[in-house]
Amino acid sequence: MTPEQGETRLVRRSAASDVLTGGFVGDSKPLELFDDLYRESDDPWNTLTSAYEREKIADALSQLGSRHYRHIFELGCGAGAMTEHLAERGDLVSAVDGSQVAVDIARRRCAELPGVTVGHMVVPASLPPRETFDLVIVSEVAYYLNAEDLRVTVAGLVDALVVGGDLLTVHWAEDDPDHCSTVEEVGAAFTGDGRLTPLRGHTATRHGTSYRVDLLRR
Ligand SMILES: C[S@@+](CC[C@H](N)C(=O)[O-])C[C@H]1O[C@@H](n2cnc3c(N)ncnc32)[C@H](O)[C@@H]1O
Repeated sequence: MTPEQGETRLVRRSAASDVLTGGFVGDSKPLELFDDLYRESDDPWNTLTSAYEREKIADALSQLGSRHYRHIFELGCGAGAMTEHLAERGDLVSAVDGSQVAVDIARRRCAELPGVTVGHMVVPASLPPRETFDLVIVSEVAYYLNAEDLRVTVAGLVDALVVGGDLLTVHWAEDDPDHCSTVEEVGAAFTGDGRLTPLRGHTATRHGTSYRVDLLRR
């Protein structure tokens, strides 16, 4: 699937936020801030170089066991640090980000990876197609959404999963003034949807920093 085809398939749906005229409902983080960060650096969070990120990604993906997926959806792929690992875990990977600058970076990074498509999508104004994916990844993005945007986004992500599909979440578990929702609120949004069964989850600390990983199944 080419990037253009991928973007066409990522259908727009009605959502709590109106068409984003640069704004969100309440205090979700505006995407312009992310554009600015990615213009300053191809990798603002050092996701491609830090030992913490490398170990965290390995820990998160190990929760999936040996299951191989048909089609993976990754929300908020950023520079593509997780995306390149997902290429080994699925036949197809559709990664999206709300920052067009990040999309361009991740596309360059993943250009040679078979089956990987990177597209532009701002949730919850747009949401992935229903019952299309057997794995959804939400890594370090959900806490940038306020409660209502988070609720609509989670519902859309669960809709996008086939029954029996997996949803893997990763969240920084430290206080951060940039976050619109706490790690507890984010976790409650996923379990509160009511259609996901928690399979396993843990909080880990590496290099002095804590994160939370959860695997849930529809
Ligand atoms: C901290 S980075 C995480 C990148 C990558 N997932 C990781 O784990 O390293 C957060 C990413 O979420 C994206 N993002 C934030 N709000 C978003 C939204 N409403 N829709 C889509 N992407 C969003 C940002 O552009 C940014 O690339």
